[in-house]
Amino acid sequence: MTDNTRRSLLTLAAAAPAALALGAAAQAQTAKAPVAGRPGAGRAAIVTGSSRGIGAATAKRLARDGYAVTVNCLTNRDLAAGVVREIEAAGGKAIWRQADVADPAAVKALFDANQEAFGGVDVVISNAGIMNVAPFAAMTDEAFDRMVATNLKGSFNVLREAARRTRPGGRIVAISSSSTQARNPTHGAYAATKAAQEMYAGCLAKELGGRRISVNALAPGPTNTALFNAPPALREQAAQRIPYGRIGEPEDVANAIAALCAADGEWINGQVVFANGGFL
Ligand SMILES: NC(=O)c1ccc[n+]([C@@H]2O[C@H](COP(=O)([O-])OP(=O)(O)OC[C@H]3O[C@@H](n4cnc5c(N)ncnc54)[C@H](OP(=O)(O)O)[C@@H]3O)[C@@H](O)[C@H]2O)c1
Repeated sequence: MTDNTRRSLLTLAAAAPAALALGAAAQAQTAKAPVAGRPGAGRAAIVTGSSRGIGAATAKRLARDGYAVTVNCLTNRDLAAGVVREIEAAGGKAIWRQADVADPAAVKALFDANQEAFGGVDVVISNAGIMNVAPFAAMTDEAFDRMVATNLKGSFNVLREAARRTRPGGRIVAISSSSTQARNPTHGAYAATKAAQEMYAGCLAKELGGRRISVNALAPGPTNTALFNAPPALREQAAQRIPYGRIGEPEDVANAIAALCAADGEWINGQVVFANGGFL
C-alpha cells in the first residue's frame, strides 16, 4: 500500500461511527475549544516524561501556549518540580507527579491528579521513553524488557487512559523516533518499540475520530538530550545527515508538537510526522 493510499484510508476512517470508543468520562465533560490568541487557553495537557529533554521543552512550550500542564517524571522529582516552577514563574499553570508509565495504576493516578487540578484533559503527549542500544548479539534480556515495559506497554497505558478521558476536540501525540526509518545497526529493539507508537496512533485515530480527537505519532531525529548521549564524533555524523548541519534541540521538537496540538493541526490525523530537520 502506498503512503497516499494509506493516508486516504485514514481520512475515510476518521469519519467512522461517532460513538466508537466514546469514553464515558470524556462524554460527560464539556468540549473545550481553543480560543483565539493562545491555542491552549482553557485547555489542559499531560506530558509524560517531562522532567527533562523533549518532554520538559514540550511542557514549557504548551504552558506558553496557555495550557495548564501536568508534568511527569520517573525518578527526577527535583527536575519535574523545577519545570513546574519555571512555568509558574512565566505566568503559567502546572503541577507535577511522579508516575512510572509502565504501571497502569500509576498512569491512572497521573490522569486523576490532572483531573483534580484542571478539571479534565485536552492534550496528551505520550513522550516518556528510554533507549537501550546494542547489537542483537549483545542485547541483554533486562535492557530489552525495560524498553518494552516503558516504551511499548508504558505508552499503551498512557494512550489507553487518554482514549478514555481526552475531551472532544483534543489531541493525542505518541512520540516515535526517526530510528524507525533509519534502521541503524544496534537500534533494532529500540526502533521496534518506537514503530509501535506509529501503529498505536494510526489505529487510535480511527477510534477517536467521532470525538474530533486527532491522534498522531511524531518522530524526532537526533536531538540534544541525555537519551541521545552520543560521543562528539557520532553527534557530528548525525549533524551531517541533517540539511541544517546540526542536530535538533528539544525546543525544535516541542514546537512541532505544539503545532499539531493547535487548532489548525486538526486535519493532521492518523499520521507519522517526522520532526527531524530533514534527517536521513
Ligand atoms: N533525543 C533523541 O534523539 C530522540 C530521538 C527520537 C525520539 N526520541 C524520543 O523522545 C522521547 C523523549 O526523549 P528524550 O531524548 O527527551 O529523553 P530524556 O532526556 O532521557 O528524558 C526522558 C524522560 O522520560 C522520563 N521517563 C523515563 N522512563 C519513564 C517511565 N518509566 N515513566 C515515566 N517517565 C519516564 C524521564 O524521567 P526522569 O527524569 O525521572 O528519569 C525523563 O523525563 C522518548 O520517547 C524518545 O524515545 C528521542
